[in-house]
Amino acid sequence: MPSKLQAPRGTYDVLPEQAAPRRALEQVARRVLEGAGYERVETPVFEATELFARGVGASTDIVQKEMYTFKDAGDRSLTLRPEGTAPICRAYMQHGMQVRSQPVKLWYLSQFFRYERAQAGRFRQFWQVGAEAIGSDDPAVDAECIALLWTILTELGVGGIELRLGSLGTPETRASYREELTAYLRAHEEQLSPEVVARIDLNPLRAFDADHPGTKQVMAGAPVLMDALAPEDLEHFEEVRGRLDAAGIGYRLDPTLVRGLDYYSRTLFEFTSDVLGAQSAVGGGGRYDGLMEQLGGTHTPACGWAAGVERMLLSAEHRPEPHAVCDLYVAGTGVPAFALAVEARRAGLNVQLELAGRSRKGQRKQASRLRAAHVALVEDDGSITVEDVVNGETEAVPGATAAVAHILKGRHL
Ligand code: HAM
Repeated sequence: MPSKLQAPRGTYDVLPEQAAPRRALEQVARRVLEGAGYERVETPVFEATELFARGVGASTDIVQKEMYTFKDAGDRSLTLRPEGTAPICRAYMQHGMQVRSQPVKLWYLSQFFRYERAQAGRFRQFWQVGAEAIGSDDPAVDAECIALLWTILTELGVGGIELRLGSLGTPETRASYREELTAYLRAHEEQLSPEVVARIDLNPLRAFDADHPGTKQVMAGAPVLMDALAPEDLEHFEEVRGRLDAAGIGYRLDPTLVRGLDYYSRTLFEFTSDVLGAQSAVGGGGRYDGLMEQLGGTHTPACGWAAGVERMLLSAEHRPEPHAVCDLYVAGTGVPAFALAVEARRAGLNVQLELAGRSRKGQRKQASRLRAAHVALVEDDGSITVEDVVNGETEAVPGATAAVAHILKGRHL
């Protein structure tokens, strides 16, 4: 195959042998989230570009350089969704979900697209499981969101997880804090690394992540946002922490936690796994009380998270799943064989039909490869012999209906 026809960089195929752990992940997510009253939603793969520019934030890396944006034949600017929160807020407004009982609790398992540098655990097309609780500012919502993701990661056996927790307060608090931090960095410029100095105005918070010894020393004494929180934001944060403490969910307070999306306010969190190496974030989220207004709606407080499917799979223990049982393999290639397969499936049996015109000898091998519990040898004249593979007994039966009845009677459970 010509190499230019291979799957694009940063994408991957899910082969049949890789399907089982993904299915197990979906089952755990569904059980945990639907058990807590979250309902599944799906939004379109592409949306108006403006939704993300407004929602995720025009100055974020995602909007600046990671979006797959294109014009359609009607000259509209569309973007393959890089994340799910802005589209869900759009759907909430578009379908008038504010009249439903609040908070509206939604979950999704969908594909997202970001033009990022592809590497282990980082793809250009990837999957997320996510949950959004929209319409309540109760700190119980924040704590429940965190607890649900914690439960999913724990049930999946994601190794070495750590929960980092912080609070951002309001946009006003953040703006005045940013000024304070910028002034502090300017006052210590000569001790900072040149990279940090170059980014002081662009993103002063990045200085907290630097490895440079001089910068680290300066940052140890830097003002932190959490100390600047307004009393009501601090109280909200204490309420969230109290609930996590009571539930025995451990966390590390991280006053410097930042995430690459602009819509957060108040609670912010991220789970990391030490199994993952460089791309250690498994999932994260927070409160986004201002997003709905930013998108042109009314004030609607909300909270949610998303977790990367590939990263959860990379860091989880894999418990092998049993194979799907083949109740019946129909060894025959004619019309009567086909009719028997259809009738047996209608009766609820898992049936595989001979599809490659194998010889009787080849059919034997195929039956054992499939680990079929029964084999029906069907001749083109319609005569059928059913073999019970487990006890080796064979029986000639008068037709398809009798064959199905015979198998159901002797089915090995
Ligand atoms: P995010 O932190 O950008 O948040 O993405 C959530 C998770 O998706 C990450 O922790 C990571 O596991 C996975 N992820 C992100 N980018 C990639 C990639 N290129 N390849 C593989 N996995 C990736 C959001 O997307 C927010 N919408 C979360 C949220 C929901 N906040 C509130 N509600």
